[in-house]
Amino acid sequence: MTEHVVPASELYTDEFAADPYPTFARLRDEAPVCPVGSPRFDSYLITRMDDARAALTDPRLSKDLYGPGQHYLRIFGPNSEGLNRNMLNSDPPEHTRLRRIVSQAFAPRRIEALRPRVAQIVDDLLDKIVPQGQAELMHDFAIPLPMRVISELLGIPVADHDPVLDWTQVIRTSGSSGRTPQEDRAAVQDAQLRLHHYFVDLVKAKRADPADDLISALISACDQDGKLSESELVTTSFLLLFAGHQTTADFIGNAVVALLTHPDQLDLLRARPELLPSAIEELLRFDGPLPVASPRIATEDVDYRGVHIPSGSIVGVVINAANHDPAHFTEPDRLDLCRERGPHVGFGYGVHYCLGVSLARMEAQLGIGALLRRLPGLRLGTPVAQLRRLPAASPFRGLLELPVRF
Ligand code: HEM
Repeated sequence: MTEHVVPASELYTDEFAADPYPTFARLRDEAPVCPVGSPRFDSYLITRMDDARAALTDPRLSKDLYGPGQHYLRIFGPNSEGLNRNMLNSDPPEHTRLRRIVSQAFAPRRIEALRPRVAQIVDDLLDKIVPQGQAELMHDFAIPLPMRVISELLGIPVADHDPVLDWTQVIRTSGSSGRTPQEDRAAVQDAQLRLHHYFVDLVKAKRADPADDLISALISACDQDGKLSESELVTTSFLLLFAGHQTTADFIGNAVVALLTHPDQLDLLRARPELLPSAIEELLRFDGPLPVASPRIATEDVDYRGVHIPSGSIVGVVINAANHDPAHFTEPDRLDLCRERGPHVGFGYGVHYCLGVSLARMEAQLGIGALLRRLPGLRLGTPVAQLRRLPAASPFRGLLELPVRF
């Protein structure tokens, strides 16, 4: 196979942000393991499903960005140490230890017990929207829904929800704020620092006055068995806050757009609400919020499909390309809510498989189900081509704004 290099500039255009799927198809066909030419990211993109699964379970592709190679510096830049050392950026056995402590809280049975509260949050948000006849669904619904759920789960006091939301939004919208790149970097660092201090103080407060919440439970695990260090408590809380709302918010936004631009599928779902659980899986496969899995580092020279990936390279598994692989999905670019549930990798694969999968599914099912029920005339408030999106360089695929009418 001839080696084909994609210039990184091709992956950072507005056109790519609006519709990356033709580029993903070209990569899958012509260069399924593709070096990306960029001075900052000497990376390789993997776009076919079989290779994606192999890479996501390949122990030679490490997630330990903070170990001896200090790879996080190349990926996230300076000043990114504090908040990112967490289970997602570590390998077993560290990963196993960090994940095990939190995993009980996310077990399907524990999450199921949250259903009435999540439904209540959905209804409260919609009660405000319904009388208005129009809304900006990202800010009025898709972002606050998972943000409230994860904030309550962690035990963030209600009075702090707004500032915490504001800081996370500075980080989420990085690159699209109208600020210069330097101002933008400074704003993101400032927001990260504030969140870091916030969690340090919150952990202190919960230690003094524990409650029935996840941070208090983590503190107790840490104090009883020394299972988590003080700084791991903070970085774990930070990871859960971000992982717990960003992807779900972007997913709800993408799913609403997919439904509103496929009226036959929207009608089908309205007529047959029992399809909702499988529809959520298909919507995630069709246009997921995490186009590329978080970066892996080759700890030795590896070969994928005859392409040599030198030790130290960054490997990006393109989830949204694998989920459109025609070798695994018939007519992959068609949204088909009746599609037999295929093995998509929208929630990842291997040991880093999404810890919050049950919560994410529940929020999406309750949120999208209620939107369709309570906003019967739901339609886009702006042509789809004019929707403002997160920039192509964002690790997330989502919308800055989603104006709708109903
Ligand atoms: C990991 C997707 C919602 C917590 C992951 C990964 C994916 C993913 C693809 C693996 C990343 C990788 O291997 O690089 C999603 C999607 C969501 C969602 C599409 C919503 C639709 C949530 C929620 C939580 C959560 C609600 C709750 C806290 C996590 C955590 C990890 C993770 C902690 C790291 C697991 C580990 O490293 O072992 N998610 N996620 N996610 N997710 Fe989710």
